[in-house]
Amino acid sequence: MKLIGLVGTNSAKSTNRQLLQYMQKHFADKAEIELIEIKDIPVFNKPADKKVPELVLEIADKIDAADGVIIGTPEYDHSIPAVLMNALAWLSYGIFPLLNKPVMITGASFGTLGSSRAQLQLRQILNAPEIKANVLPDEFLLSHSLQAFDKEGNLIDLDTCNKLDAIFDDFRIFVKMTEKLQSAQELLRKEAENFDWESL
Ligand SMILES: Cc1cc2nc3c(=O)[nH]c(=O)nc-3n(C[C@H](O)[C@H](O)[C@H](O)COP(=O)(O)O)c2cc1C
Repeated sequence: MKLIGLVGTNSAKSTNRQLLQYMQKHFADKAEIELIEIKDIPVFNKPADKKVPELVLEIADKIDAADGVIIGTPEYDHSIPAVLMNALAWLSYGIFPLLNKPVMITGASFGTLGSSRAQLQLRQILNAPEIKANVLPDEFLLSHSLQAFDKEGNLIDLDTCNKLDAIFDDFRIFVKMTEKLQSAQELLRKEAENFDWESL
């Protein structure tokens, strides 16, 4: 199984990136996870010619080719980071790499709530007409993320490890299940392609 881990931050030091790196290593025998950075994507400016930056097209191709995507999001002011919103705006601007794509959301935050509000918001965004991803219902929240890893980058708390293992196993089943949801796929793609916010 080939998965993309989308690092939802442009911060050089990030516990969300650390979590995705841990998953990449820890689940190496279950899936190949390629981490993708979004920090160099230009700010979305709705270009009239609808030209999507080369970097975004490269990311979209990788998502297209993958069986699923894991999105790791921090929480800033109860929201997903602007840089992640920016990436998702480009990734739904005349291109549809996330359409019907199985997505697992992870989030880490320094406080107790572990990015729960950002994760809810991300679910809503991923349901937009030009994104329409298939999002795994389970949530993985990593609270107190600054204290969560040891020096080797492994998660310290056993219950947290077990929960992540269980949710990831569910995600792998979810990826296989969603492959079977073919009936409406073509119709949904046509709907997304024909959808235009500006000629409503
Ligand atoms: C401007 C700002 C706003 C923040 N807002 C929230 C918030 O609403 N909820 C929360 O749990 N943490 C909040 N935090 C703390 C972040 O969870 C933490 O700084 C960090 O970004 C966690 O992710 P990271 O390690 O991947 O950077 C905020 C931090 C900053 C700098």
